[in-house]
Amino acid sequence: MKKFVLAIAFSVAASGGAQAQTYPSRPVTLIVPFAAGGPADITGRIVADIFSKALGQQFIVENVGGAGGTTGSTRAARATPDGYTIQLGHMGTHAAAPALYPNLAYNPETDFEPIGLIATQPEVLAVRKDFPPNNLKEFIVYARANEKKINAAHAGVGSVSYVGCLLLHSAIGIKPTLVPFTGTAPVWTAMLGGQVDYLCDPIHGPYPHVKAGTVKALAIATAKRHPLLPDVPTAAEQGLPEFDASPFYAMFAPKGTPQPVIDRLADALDKALDDEAVRKRIEDLGATITEKSQRGPKPLAALVHSEVARLTPILKAASEK
Ligand code: MLT
Repeated sequence: MKKFVLAIAFSVAASGGAQAQTYPSRPVTLIVPFAAGGPADITGRIVADIFSKALGQQFIVENVGGAGGTTGSTRAARATPDGYTIQLGHMGTHAAAPALYPNLAYNPETDFEPIGLIATQPEVLAVRKDFPPNNLKEFIVYARANEKKINAAHAGVGSVSYVGCLLLHSAIGIKPTLVPFTGTAPVWTAMLGGQVDYLCDPIHGPYPHVKAGTVKALAIATAKRHPLLPDVPTAAEQGLPEFDASPFYAMFAPKGTPQPVIDRLADALDKALDDEAVRKRIEDLGATITEKSQRGPKPLAALVHSEVARLTPILKAASEK
């Protein structure tokens, strides 16, 4: 009997290995759980290019927006775990969501196979050009005095744009009107049309509009200033260190995806993050590329675990205020 069991185990392992050798043998769907044009979509398309080139099959982005990225992430979690559906996730979908969605249809820690981290993207508080405050201290005074008149746009409850401004609002002690969209690209259409007052967005979103003078950046939510916007002071410099948001962006597959397939994807991502052309594309977003020691499934699994633990009490308290 023991020989029979060993033979089965061997054949399963071999088939997994054989599967990895032929993987991918057809196009792969890469779910981006937000509308086209935002930081998740732009980052996801860079990774789709990486995998298509490295693995010789088309990795095709499918934008599945809604519910702060949890609609697309649920789709990914429920996909057949064969390597032909993977997703881009981030601090919102794979760390903040459990605190914000009591009936979340997936567990970020147990319903996915982490593939690897890509980068972190620091958030900026960006306000429309004619919004009165010109710095964070003025914003705090103005927002407290006009709490019921102002509105903040975001990419859905659980998105990093939602989480970033939730940390800001919690630190200031305000609950302004929140206006949801399916991604930050549609938010920018509303911002530039003057329909919403401000948002907290990874730096790539505000950057061109700040440079063009069509919006104002009041603070960056990181420990030190950013080379793309060196004149924008940090929130900490302006007395609000609680506004600290530099979300991770990463790749995930549904739980049960064969390990050899995960290893091939993780290896391709790791190698690409050392390629100069790829690094330039990601750094031009204002993103910080994951250092070598933090790449691959294990560091991502550890980060998801620690970020869920860190964010859950903060977001639950902030949501109850
Ligand atoms: C978010 O979580 O705010 C997303 O990254 C927005 C987006 O990429 O559209």
